[in-house]
Amino acid sequence: MKKPVSRVLIINDEPLVLKEFVKGLNAAARSLDNPLGITFSGVTTAREALAAIEEDGDLQAVVVDDKLYTLNQKSPKKEMSALELVQRVTRFRPELDVYILIAQEHEDEIVDALFAEAVDGYFYREERDYRGMYRILNAQVQERSRTPFYDQLKNYVWMAKDSWHTPGHSSGESLRGSPWVNDFCDFMGEHVFDADLSVSVKMLDSLMEPTGVIAEAQTIAAKAFGARRTFFATNGTSTSNKVIFQTLLAPGEKLLLDRNCHKSVHHGVVLSGGHPIYLDSSINAKYSLYGPVPKKTILSAIRRHPDAQAIILTSCTYDGLRYDLAPIVEAAHAKGIKVIVDEAWYGFARFHPAFRPTALEAGADYATQSTHKVLSAFSQASMIHVNDPGFNEHLFRENFNMHTSTSPQYSMIASLDVARKQAVMEGYKLLSRTLALSQELRAQINSTGVFRVLELDQLLPEEVRRDNILLDPTKVTVDIASCGYTVEDLQRELFDRYNIQVEKSTFNTLTLLLTIGTTRSKVSRLYDALMRIAREGRAPRRLYRFPEIPGFTRLRFLPRDAFYCGGELVPLVDEKDNIRRDLLDRACADQIVPYPPGIPVLVPGQVITREIVHYLVGLLRSQKRVELHGIVYDGYLPCLRVLKPAEERGLRRIG
Ligand SMILES: Cc1ncc(COP(=O)(O)O)c(C=O)c1O
Repeated sequence: MKKPVSRVLIINDEPLVLKEFVKGLNAAARSLDNPLGITFSGVTTAREALAAIEEDGDLQAVVVDDKLYTLNQKSPKKEMSALELVQRVTRFRPELDVYILIAQEHEDEIVDALFAEAVDGYFYREERDYRGMYRILNAQVQERSRTPFYDQLKNYVWMAKDSWHTPGHSSGESLRGSPWVNDFCDFMGEHVFDADLSVSVKMLDSLMEPTGVIAEAQTIAAKAFGARRTFFATNGTSTSNKVIFQTLLAPGEKLLLDRNCHKSVHHGVVLSGGHPIYLDSSINAKYSLYGPVPKKTILSAIRRHPDAQAIILTSCTYDGLRYDLAPIVEAAHAKGIKVIVDEAWYGFARFHPAFRPTALEAGADYATQSTHKVLSAFSQASMIHVNDPGFNEHLFRENFNMHTSTSPQYSMIASLDVARKQAVMEGYKLLSRTLALSQELRAQINSTGVFRVLELDQLLPEEVRRDNILLDPTKVTVDIASCGYTVEDLQRELFDRYNIQVEKSTFNTLTLLLTIGTTRSKVSRLYDALMRIAREGRAPRRLYRFPEIPGFTRLRFLPRDAFYCGGELVPLVDEKDNIRRDLLDRACADQIVPYPPGIPVLVPGQVITREIVHYLVGLLRSQKRVELHGIVYDGYLPCLRVLKPAEERGLRRIG
């Protein structure tokens, strides 16, 4: 098994003192227990220190002497205070432990000056207690690398207790002897079964009322992600979003939401009974991609609806577009509106400066993250981070428990614990590699001369060009229009001939997702495949363009009121394939969502227009297979469930 390597950087501008410290500490590390492979190195200038922090992904801690630092030995006049250096270090890599070396006579001043900074502790320079220093630094790094829940799960499995409780497979015993299903056990691996336990095992704590190892793991995660509180969720960010809505919104209360939000957000609106104010996202018609909501639209909605309880935005989007959140948060907070950011695709961002600020760093009150999408957690494992100063924990807990299974998957909780550890210990290093691979891949794809990576400029719809939107480069969207294949044929070719499965597509683009699990050989294989396809020299095909995504129409009823009506089914088209007129101006009872990308064309209570029906019929007839959630088939006729006239008369209108 690979052993970890951890480095601690000592920064002191007196070469002789520095040498002595590094030597003393390394000797202590060699002679004492050192499971994390800690070694010490030193630099004398602030510039070298900052360079080391940028370049050395194995760095886990820094020890800064409380002096003024020359930025550069060649021009010793330029100086940086220890305070400024600490600020630069923690801004760049907040996960690092920071210790200060102080002289006894300056203790009060220094501790005061650094009071507001993320400093983990102090050492007296004169003491030269290298073994003591090493023990503390080692303990601190070990603390960050702890996985309390995962460790306890392993302990329990090794204890090999007889199971007289659920699940019924009883640590795999029900499968193991079976001539019919023992292959499942062999295929999945034994620990999938013996680590699949139940709430009866008290030493594994309870997700519904954590006081032990789950609580500890969540506390460590909160520190890692810069939150006051973090909660592990085992039903995906789909559920995390719903839990927050039900906590913040009473029925009838307003929520501002990006229409580009994931369908779980719209489901959350139905469940909470909230009154949604939809903000139309920008649309890149050329590539059929949804963009962010224009800043102007958001700020004006905040001004027009100061009575809203909350606003939710998706950042980054599925295509990697990130809002400039800070001014939006500021405007919302000025009206007392809470800010929720769906970071389903951005859970790694805290661990590399290229992706920051995160939503919490920009001041958001809540962030939900699909840890499973972009870090090393099992599918459905998600985190809810809370920084809301008025957080109502009791209400949150009630709603969390309402949505949480009483039989959560323990391996999923363990994977959240482990994913957090990995992000903290080696996230910077792995993300640096991912960024380099993304750059390489982009250049290689463009070098095919046929496929072209869309950069921010090409992705951004016109109306958001001046909104300081940024692109997460780990999401790579490729224009495939010149390759001579339709997108379906290209995906099939990549899958069948080259064993490549991509993330998603539109009629003329493919999106590739790079994560910390992307390797150089995967990049090479993809490049090789695209180059071979490019060299086939096929003439470009005429690609079927999706009908333009219709803008949001009027909401006549609260989504929840409309959803709970029985309604009636009305087909989209008649026998002659013409659009049914009796569908127009009716209120839809369901949410109609083409998937991907999972953004609703209709929500319950919304008025149906000719344009919307045209769009849905267009999708149904298109060559490209799209799931259309919410469409009901009456025989072979695709129908919408709409409110009956009598039901409409009985409901309170909101628009
Ligand atoms: C923006 C957004 N939010 C939330 C979700 C739901 O996340 P999960 O799959 O973890 O339930 C998704 C899933 O695709 C998403 O794209």
